[in-house]
Amino acid sequence: MRAVGLSDSRTVGLLGAVVVALLSVSQTVRLSSQDTTRGKTVYVKWCAGCHGEDGKGDGPAAAYMLPRPRDFTGAVYQIRTTANGQLPTDADLMRSIDDGLFGTAMPGWKGRLSDAERRDVLAYLKTFSAFFADTTQRPVALAFGREPGSDARVGRQFYDSIGCRKCHGDQGRGDGPSAPTLKDDAGFPIFAADLAQSWRFNGGGDVAAIYRRLRTGLDGTPMPSFSDLIDQKFLTADELWHLAQYVRSLSPTRPPELRDVIHAPAARGALPAAPDDSAWNRVEPSWFPLVGQVIHKSRWFTPAIAGVWVQALHDGRALALRITWDDRSQSPDSAWRPFTQRVLASVAGDDSTPPAAALWPDQLIVQFPTKVPEGMERPYFLMGAATQPVYQWRWTSALRTSGRAVAGLARGIERFDSLPAGSAPAAQAVYDHGQWRLVLTRALATPDTADDLQFRTGRAIPVAFFGQDGSNGEFGTRMAVSTWYFLALDQPTPPRVFVTPVVAIAVTLGLGLVLVRRAQQRGTRA
Ligand code: HEC
Ligand code: HEC
Repeated sequence: MRAVGLSDSRTVGLLGAVVVALLSVSQTVRLSSQDTTRGKTVYVKWCAGCHGEDGKGDGPAAAYMLPRPRDFTGAVYQIRTTANGQLPTDADLMRSIDDGLFGTAMPGWKGRLSDAERRDVLAYLKTFSAFFADTTQRPVALAFGREPGSDARVGRQFYDSIGCRKCHGDQGRGDGPSAPTLKDDAGFPIFAADLAQSWRFNGGGDVAAIYRRLRTGLDGTPMPSFSDLIDQKFLTADELWHLAQYVRSLSPTRPPELRDVIHAPAARGALPAAPDDSAWNRVEPSWFPLVGQVIHKSRWFTPAIAGVWVQALHDGRALALRITWDDRSQSPDSAWRPFTQRVLASVAGDDSTPPAAALWPDQLIVQFPTKVPEGMERPYFLMGAATQPVYQWRWTSALRTSGRAVAGLARGIERFDSLPAGSAPAAQAVYDHGQWRLVLTRALATPDTADDLQFRTGRAIPVAFFGQDGSNGEFGTRMAVSTWYFLALDQPTPPRVFVTPVVAIAVTLGLGLVLVRRAQQRGTRA
């Protein structure tokens, strides 16, 4: 089991690296002979694809990213221990280079570059700005003091009174009334951070890191510094610490762990069809990170939905899936239209004619194979293929009140053939302060055994998820995607002889593999 904070940023970082690799092929990098410092060599090889040869944040991959790579010539840095508007310390820069900026395309370099290489590249990127040349003014870290005992209740009071809600919203999911208007200093649209996902905070998600961000602000973004409120005696340092504790309390205690299998326990009573039925509180959710769809045109590098929480229950006759995801906008929402427009104008795509902004809905797709597979083979994860379709449930916010989602067969990303309405799962959704909660329910067995997946207990059923935030300019193939995971419906077996189906499956599969391998070895020996 890995912490998603890591694998999440690793996936995103990997994506970035792929982009850089793709684009640097077409790029000719020239090194002038008198200026080949070691730092420059590292920079040109590893950083310039995003940050640009001259450090202006305009490398060949930059146009595909939001937020954009840092423009080093301005010397404006987000993650600092220094006051608002000040230069960062070397240690601040080293932290960003070592760990990367979680939740963005900026990868961490600690494992990839040696200590010396990272020190050299740090020294080199400071040469892009004259501000660092003035050695009479060395940046000094603020004194942050010590964290007092926790009092999240006081923190919540200040959350309301000093205007965090304006941008971050009542529950902190980045859906405040000002959220659709936010831009960074370069004029690019920027989301207010989702405070329920602290493992994706750029500068780290523990209380101390959050406190430092509140003291320093994130320079270059609309996220202000609140140090002056302490200077003005509007609140004490301890109260600001309590605010940091409150913010931390909005996220899970530990970063979600990436699991491969969603367990669907057998329900004790009736299946909960409503998203806020209290029965869901007793079912453990699994988190599945999503990344941009960058395989097929139109590619999408800046998805808004970071992942989905999934819970499942069955009663031997029907299956209920509850999918919960954070989305700052209940699309289509005309208040977000200018934001959509700015996103489309800012992110390079591969369309010959960039689309005009429209009021697109939000969408969630759950994907299965058409049949529970016998072995390990699965259809192509990205919506199957013409020869091997996948079975999907498609729900959109436009269908919100219909009580239904659409079932159908996808034959590749461009082709979806919907099945008759009788095949469709029941759907109930609520939108609540920056979060969708959706329950999809369907009988395990249906009359259309040729097209509809027939669910079976005690088997690992492949499942994948795709999401779209309409207000972020996501429609068509522009979406956030997951890879295949598994859904396992527990067999209603008495607890005494209970072997978890997944273990059973693993053992069976493992044995199967051993047998096959033995048979093959025997074959080659014979
Ligand atoms: C895949 C693209 C990509 C690559 C490669 C990359 N960066 Fe970045 N970098 C970014 C993005 C995007 C940001 C801005 C993130 C944000 O604004 O939240 C960033 C920000 C930064 C920052 C600013 C941190 C702050 O506090 O504001 C530093 C420093 C940095 N990168 C250094 C480097 C160095 C050094 C390298 C090469 C070893 C490198 N980057 C390679 C994408 C990249
Ligand atoms: C004017 C809008 C605005 C206000 C007011 C505001 N924020 Fe933010 N905040 C932002 C934006 C935008 C970001 C995301 C910056 C980025 O992505 O680089 C952010 C990021 C954050 C982060 C993530 C830091 C990180 O390391 O990535 C935290 C935590 C946070 N804000 C807490 C707060 C709290 C607490 C308050 C109130 C004291 C507050 N913010 C007030 C706009 C705002």
